[in-house]
Amino acid sequence: METLTLKSPFDMHLHLRDGEMLENIIKYTAQNFASALVMPNLELPIVSVDLAVAYKQRILEACKKQGIEDFMPLMSLYLTPSLTEVELRKAKELGIFILKLYPKGATTGSQSGVKEVLDSKILEILGIAESLGMVLSIHGESNGFVMEREVEFHPVFEVLGKSFPKLRIIFEHLSDYRSVALVEKYENLFATLTLHHMLLSLDSVAGGMLNPHYFCKPILKTKKDQEALLQVALSGHSKFSFGSDSAPHLRNAKEQKGAAGIFSAPILLPLLVQTFESNRALEKLETFISYNASKIYQLPLSKKNVRLCKKPMIIPQECYGVVPMLAGETLEWSVA
Ligand code: DOR
Ligand code: ZN
Repeated sequence: METLTLKSPFDMHLHLRDGEMLENIIKYTAQNFASALVMPNLELPIVSVDLAVAYKQRILEACKKQGIEDFMPLMSLYLTPSLTEVELRKAKELGIFILKLYPKGATTGSQSGVKEVLDSKILEILGIAESLGMVLSIHGESNGFVMEREVEFHPVFEVLGKSFPKLRIIFEHLSDYRSVALVEKYENLFATLTLHHMLLSLDSVAGGMLNPHYFCKPILKTKKDQEALLQVALSGHSKFSFGSDSAPHLRNAKEQKGAAGIFSAPILLPLLVQTFESNRALEKLETFISYNASKIYQLPLSKKNVRLCKKPMIIPQECYGVVPMLAGETLEWSVA
């Protein structure tokens, strides 16, 4: 049977939640990736180093319970105006070097986010982060019209890109083709790409019967956006790394309350391989999911290799009460 081995795959944007949900879903990522950048937007957001360290411990314990010992969670710190230089130094010393900035109200768990990104207090924190060699990840959306939010946020990236030339800034989950040129414009600007933004459009949400399982932030956009983002990923462009933004919500929260988030963790590697193979770009896949992240975030490649085989994977209708992306469909590859 045809097989394929991927070296040190990284998922640079992942929601693992906490408690029972964490325990149930951790295996989907921990078995298949060497490392993942864990988002801090819990119900009690990870706004301090102590909280991040304790959360990392819970993640590692959940891995251990599943018999997984070779997965490294990379922790991020939720950026609030109360972060101090002492706290940032402590973070850096403990290997926590990624700050996540949520504009207040932009998405799930952003209530503690930043009201005004270009406020002097925030700029002061970013100056310290720059001097410490940290990375700033941003959910880049305004509070304007839903389809234009990402582009409306561009001026903020322009200011930050110019003001902090040594700060590595990540434009998270790019969803709009117009953002690609912006990322290319500044040497210190990079981006993550999700599979759902490169494979789906707004049609998946609202083109037929309303499908809340494909509702996410930033919202899926046009076919033109989707195709442009796919081409960027397939090219192995050095400024773009893979970040799934896999974000589980229980079925009820999606169907009754309209929670934003797509749960893609169970299908990521098979779908990545299928996507790159069918576009004759398989030789660029490791660049996209391993080497680019290693360079952008200055992460050593892990010794962990993940093997896939060309055997159909039937995607379940539900995983622990969460409906996964492409539920019920069949993929050409499975993790061996
Ligand atoms: O769709 C989303 N869901 N986008 C985000 O930015 C957050 C995420 C979540 O935490 O559910
Ligand atoms: Zn996210």
